[in-house]
Amino acid sequence: MLNAEQRAIIKATVPLLESGGEALTTHFYKMMLSEYPEVRPLFNQAHQASGDQPRALANGVLMYARHIDQLEQLGGLVGQIINKHVALQILPEHYPIVGSCLLRAIEEVLGKEIATPEVIAAWGAAYGQLADILIGAEEHLYKQKEEAAGGWRGAREFRLVRRAQESSEIVSFYFAPLDGKPVLKAEPGQYIGLQLFIDGVEQRRNYSLSALCDGKEYRISVKREAGGKVSNYLHDQLVVGDTLQLFPPSGDFTLTASDKPLVLISGGVGITPTLAMLEAALETKRPVHFIHCARNGAVHAFRDWISALAERHPQLQHFYCYAEADGSNDAHAVGLLSEDLLAEWMPVERDVDAYFLGPKGFMAAVKGYLKGLGVPEQQSRYEFFGPAAALQ
Ligand SMILES: Cc1cc2nc3c(=O)[nH]c(=O)nc-3n(C[C@H](O)[C@H](O)[C@H](O)COP(=O)(O)OP(=O)(O)OC[C@H]3O[C@@H](n4cnc5c(N)ncnc54)[C@H](O)[C@@H]3O)c2cc1C
Ligand code: HEM
Repeated sequence: MLNAEQRAIIKATVPLLESGGEALTTHFYKMMLSEYPEVRPLFNQAHQASGDQPRALANGVLMYARHIDQLEQLGGLVGQIINKHVALQILPEHYPIVGSCLLRAIEEVLGKEIATPEVIAAWGAAYGQLADILIGAEEHLYKQKEEAAGGWRGAREFRLVRRAQESSEIVSFYFAPLDGKPVLKAEPGQYIGLQLFIDGVEQRRNYSLSALCDGKEYRISVKREAGGKVSNYLHDQLVVGDTLQLFPPSGDFTLTASDKPLVLISGGVGITPTLAMLEAALETKRPVHFIHCARNGAVHAFRDWISALAERHPQLQHFYCYAEADGSNDAHAVGLLSEDLLAEWMPVERDVDAYFLGPKGFMAAVKGYLKGLGVPEQQSRYEFFGPAAALQ
């Protein structure tokens, strides 16, 4: 527990962290990844290179420092972190590694004059408090997933039972557990963790479940990323019958039960969680407006499947926007999605639940459009296919 003096030190350090927080965490990551090879597989190298992961951690630490007196105000941030952590199997024994590297980084980056033993001790106590909160909340989730029907803890072996080409760059993979027992019914919008070994090196990645879970198998749909380790491995090397390890479904970007019209907006492979949400919503009576943006028809996945659903379910309206003209009549509009198009394609009544996902720039635009169109902010929800970032 922090004493009053330590709280005061933490609060006084917030402005310092705000100006130098990212440099601090970048330094911290370099140190941790070079000195502790056992945590390397947990971190996606591409997210390090882009700076998104150091930025996300810096943001987490800053938010915490800002709210040291009212931790309950952290609200959604804790949920977001623990879901990401649980999906990648971050464990209590990892916390002291992060803690000691973070404190050493504070000392090295700020210099001993600012980072006095009192400052370091206060941050040590604060980190310990935050770590206890996260470890406790994560254990609660691990236990829940272990005890639920079809659930498990840690890695479970699955076999690839089917694959399907969904567009020129997206392939679906269906996985069933080797033990033949049921699997945890994921909530629509959740993702699983994959653990695999490529050229002897362990890799972990999250993939959204792209179909409503039937309790027997999971489907993910993966876009080939140029130069990407795991997506190319899955596309080019994983064949039916191969096995890999899955971590239980996790994530708080999930469809909330409601009677309000549902608006699902996706760009590119961001379509995946919205497919499971769509299936779940069509089991109810709520109207659904499904809006999807793709570069062109060749990369547009699940078009036929959505069209077939729309024929069977009059409550479903679908709209496609292609960035490039491709000579087909498959798109309802060509160019980038705009607020005017969204206004046309949304229900007239703006009291809707909106869920959106796609590239960062696309999400920033959609967030602004929804706000402009009067959708209440708390009814406009999104997630990132990578570390969370500010949407400006
Ligand atoms: C919650 C969540 C859900 C997701 N759902 C989906 C989904 O449904 N479908 C889907 O396709 N993806 C999804 N993703 C993204 C997925 O987890 C992977 O990030 C994605 O497949 C790319 O992984 P990769 O191993 O192929 O590429 P990576 O190897 O991670 O590389 C990504 C990019 O970074 C570049 N890069 C790699 N290493 C470096 C480096 N050291 N320096 C500079 N550049 C580098 C690569 O060239 C490539 O362009 C999701 C992510 C999250 C967090
Ligand atoms: C108090 C301690 C910690 C804080 C405040 C913290 C904070 C965060 C935040 C804010 C994110 C991004 C969440 C998102 O994208 O939505 C994140 C993701 C992550 N964290 Fe932590 N974390 C802590 C401890 C740890 C530990 C101990 C490990 C393991 C050694 C770890 C590994 C990861 C990984 C692997 C990710 C996902 C990274 C990615 O997407 O590339 N974290 N954490």
